[in-house]
Formats: sequence, C-alpha cells, structure tokens
Amino acid sequence: MIPAAVALALAHFGAPLAYRLAAGRWLARPWGLERGPRRPTVTVIVPTYNEAKFVEAKLDDIAKQSYPKELMEVIVVDSASSDGTAQIARRWAAEHPQVKLLVVEEPERRGKAHALNAALKAARGEVVVITDADSTWAAEDTLERALSWFADPRVGAVTCLKKPAGKGAAGVEEGYRRFYNAIRVAESKVWATPIFHGELAAFRRDLLEANGGFPTDLGADDSHTATLIALKGYRAIAPDDVWCIEAVPRKGYHKWRVRRAQHLIQHFARAIKRVREAPGPFRKVLLAEAWLHLANPWLLAAAALLLALEAARGSPLAAALLALGFLPLACKPYRTWVAMQLYLMAAAIRNLKTKEIAWEKEAK
Ligand code: GDD
Ligand code: MN
Repeated sequence: MIPAAVALALAHFGAPLAYRLAAGRWLARPWGLERGPRRPTVTVIVPTYNEAKFVEAKLDDIAKQSYPKELMEVIVVDSASSDGTAQIARRWAAEHPQVKLLVVEEPERRGKAHALNAALKAARGEVVVITDADSTWAAEDTLERALSWFADPRVGAVTCLKKPAGKGAAGVEEGYRRFYNAIRVAESKVWATPIFHGELAAFRRDLLEANGGFPTDLGADDSHTATLIALKGYRAIAPDDVWCIEAVPRKGYHKWRVRRAQHLIQHFARAIKRVREAPGPFRKVLLAEAWLHLANPWLLAAAALLLALEAARGSPLAAALLALGFLPLACKPYRTWVAMQLYLMAAAIRNLKTKEIAWEKEAK
C-alpha cells in the first residue's frame, strides 16, 4: 500500500507543478490579438441583493471611469433586497443625471444569474460588463482597458485579475491570488481562461444572447458563460493590465471559499462534457483545470488515508511519510495549497446537498 500512496501523492503534487511550468512558458507568448481605439457601447450591470453598504460606492466607482459616458449605460438589478438597496440606487441616479442608470427590480430573489438575465433584456450595449457590488475597479481606466480588447473581433469575453483587500485578505488568500493570476494570464495567452471573475466580466452581447443568457442552474455563471464563448471559437481572456479589488469576508471565510469551490465544480463538471468541441489550444486548458478541480484533490486524500492505515498497522515508514506530508504545513504556499484541496473536497460533498444558487451574504 505504501508505494501506491507515494504514487498518488506524487501524481497529486506533480499535476499542478507541471501545469504551472507549462503556464510559465505560455506567459512569454504574445497575445496574438490587436487592441484598438474603436470604442464599443457598453452596458454595465450590477446585480444586488442586500448591498446597501456597497451600492453607492460601486456606482461612484463606475461613474469615475474614464470611459465616455455617452457610450455607457448602467443597470442595477436588485432582487427584492430588504435593506433598501434599490432605493439607494434610485436616489443615486437622481443625483447623477450625467450617468444613464436604470434600476430593475425583481419581485422575488431567484439568484444572481436569474437577475442578470432580467437586466440583459433591457441592455443595449454591444458589450455587457457584469460587476459585483462589493468589488472595486483598481484604476479609472480599468473599464477602458478591458473594453479595448473587444476591438479585435476574435475576442468574445474579458475578465480582470484580482487583488484581495479587507481584513480577511492576509493569509491564505494572498498567496492563492498570486499563483492563480499568473495561471489566468497564461491560459488567456494560449486561448482562453475557463475561470472568470464577478468583479469584472465582460461579454459581447450578441454571444450572450446566442447562449440564451446566463445559466441559472449553476453557480459560476460568469466562468461558465466565458467557457461557452471559448468553445464557440472566441478568445475569453484575463489581460495582465485589468485589475479589480475584491473585499474578502471578515467572517465566514471558510464558508465563502467552499461556496465558490462548489460553483467552480458545478461549472467544470458541465463544461468538461463538451471538451471535444473546444478549439485545440483550449482543450488542454479545460482538461487540466477540470482535472485540478474535480479529481486531483482526492488523490491527496487517498494518499493520506492509505498512509494512515499503514501507520496504524504499525509501519514506521508510513508514519514517517505521513509526517513528511504534514511538516511543510509550516510554510505558507504549501498550507495554501492543502487548504484549497480541503475546500474543493468539502465543496464536492456539499454539492450533493445544495448548489447554493441563492446564497447567504458573508459580512465584509
Ligand atoms: N440581483 C441579485 N440577485 N444579485 C445577487 C443575488 C441575487 O439573488 N445573489 C447575489 N447577488 C449579487 C451580490 O449582491 C453581489 O453584487 C454579487 O451578486 C456577488 O455576490 P456575493 O455575495 O458578493 O458573492 P461572492 O463574492 O462570493 O461571489 C463570487 O463568486 C460567484 C461564483 O461563485 C462572485 O465573483 C460572483 O460574481 C460569482 O458568481
Ligand atoms: Mn462578493
């Protein structure tokens, strides 16, 4: 059993390392795309559920973007918030006549994607940008930079890279972000990244409509939509100069991470069924990410279990190997990695019970 455990552990750590090495090479590639001065019209959609604390700052953030106001409309779509979010948004609209803002109110809450589809019906921009109420765009030209990629007709979707902020940001979250931002850019250079971010997720509206809007029966509406667009032969990219700041929850951090992992698992479990349709370069990205999210965490668990069983049967070698796996928990990157695996496994189990389509908000 010990050789099997060692093989499982080597496979578990080898897969992401090999992928990160490949990503390192991809990072050096050119984009193979042309950014241009042609500016598309844009609809910025802010989905809100009980965002009274954030909605004003979010609208201010959008208003101070350098992108020409005459090319922009904003839609706040609120799903029956009980904290007055919609009223705050309407008041903001009255105070800012220079911004074209529409407030759409759903009579009942049926999840973020359902709300996005309601907003989409009213959207007129060539490009639709989704942005979470509790996120901040890092610079005044963030939107301008993101949209400049749509000058190339091969680009179907654009997202941002993320900087964590807030009281919960130190610790595991920061290391996690650095590692994954590099991978997002590398995947984008190859073809597309299958992981998009709700802080800024931009899509060509005609492609969204061809998809029938956002999927309402899984959590990662943004990532899944981007992946469908990439499957159709368009680039779905995270450029290295478009940044967003995300508030990390003060309380309920683990629950938050598990919910997000649940959404990613739902997304990859569905996307992988269509991997054959993927343009060649995207196929390897999708296969690798699906493996890392769906299967790889369990190899680690299996290795640990086998070693624990052997150690319990009195094998000093198994006990030593198990200790070897635990000792590096003292260093942060390893701890970050192991924590991610635990979130993914907890999420897979939790998905059997609930998909978390309409979730509880963590305090930020
Ligand atoms: N209208 C509406 N209706 N908006 C909603 C609903 C809903 O039922 N549920 C959540 N939202 C809004 C929130 O108000 C917020 O602006 C945004 O959707 C994201 O929700 P958060 O509660 O902040 O969740 P998160 O930061 O953990 O969500 C992240 O991961 C999700 C996928 O796992 C974001 O990146 C989301 O965009 C992403 O879908
Ligand atoms: Mn959020």
